[in-house]
Amino acid sequence: MIEDSDFPGAAAAGTFDLDGETTVNRMGFGAMRLCGADIVGPPADEENAREVARSAVEFGVDFVDTADSYGPGTSERLLREAGVVDDAVVATKAGLLREAGGDWLPHGDPDYIRNQVLVSKDRLGVDTLDLYQFHRPDPETPFADSVAAFAELKDEGHVEHVGLSNVSVEQLDEAREQVDIATVQNQYNVANREDEAVLRACEDAGIGFIPWFPLGAGDLGAVGETLDAVAAAHDATRRQVALAWLLAHSDVTIPIPGTASVEHLRENVAAASLSLSDAEVARLVDAGE
Ligand SMILES: NC(=O)c1ccc[n+]([C@@H]2O[C@H](COP(=O)([O-])OP(=O)(O)OC[C@H]3O[C@@H](n4cnc5c(N)ncnc54)[C@H](OP(=O)(O)O)[C@@H]3O)[C@@H](O)[C@H]2O)c1
Repeated sequence: MIEDSDFPGAAAAGTFDLDGETTVNRMGFGAMRLCGADIVGPPADEENAREVARSAVEFGVDFVDTADSYGPGTSERLLREAGVVDDAVVATKAGLLREAGGDWLPHGDPDYIRNQVLVSKDRLGVDTLDLYQFHRPDPETPFADSVAAFAELKDEGHVEHVGLSNVSVEQLDEAREQVDIATVQNQYNVANREDEAVLRACEDAGIGFIPWFPLGAGDLGAVGETLDAVAAAHDATRRQVALAWLLAHSDVTIPIPGTASVEHLRENVAAASLSLSDAEVARLVDAGE
């Protein structure tokens, strides 16, 4: 077990350079779970949410993921109130609506994206968004039109880096014809490697790959038993092994485990210093096939 005295924090994960220029520790934090139930509205205990965000920075996390639709607005607001914006690269997103009934609705209209960049800048209290991600391709809007809005916002200095989320290899290639892509954020974890081809395309191009749902929200299905066996050998938890596997499996991954608990955050960040052998990494790959 990793003790307090030798808790190296997120830096132990190593670093990744966004667009080759903005360096972040590869163990990040996902701020979606700071919101209330179903990611709608504020949490019951807002001070706890701010404390979790502040603790992430204290634990060495300098890459925090959020989106305008988390709450909507709540997650970005809490990050600003927690004072983490100056100490971490904050990656936000636009292009997905949160509807009061609980639906997530794609909305890639370029005018909407251009509106939302101003909303997110104001809510986060920054002049420039560090990383602005297109949340999800919208079947009702040509993908190239949505990406063009992000490219323009970068040209105009509203955003430093552009990222994509929930895209295929083909969409990544298409977007790269318009603008440099710093990161791709897709669902991926040791038990769900459907987007392995996207990860490999990111590796080839030096693009960061942000695996969302890195813990499968606790459900790592068929891989559970193997995770437990590897965890026992390291006196670690199955979640720590799942995160350490993501770091070991590729040099471009930047996991962003989400939590509303300081205790869970600490456990997750501690996985940055968990070193798996090549045999353990391969065994987990086999278990997930
Ligand atoms: N781009 C996209 O479309 C997209 C979609 C979904 C999420 N995301 C991003 O990805 C981030 C991560 O995804 P996620 O939050 O859905 O899934 P996740 O990180 O796989 O799992 C989070 C869940 O696991 C629990 N958990 C976390 N650490 C734990 C620990 N050490 N022990 C026990 N339980 C633990 C959390 O509950 P507790 O609060 O109780 O710890 C939470 O319910 C999000 O925060 C968000 O920023 C992006």
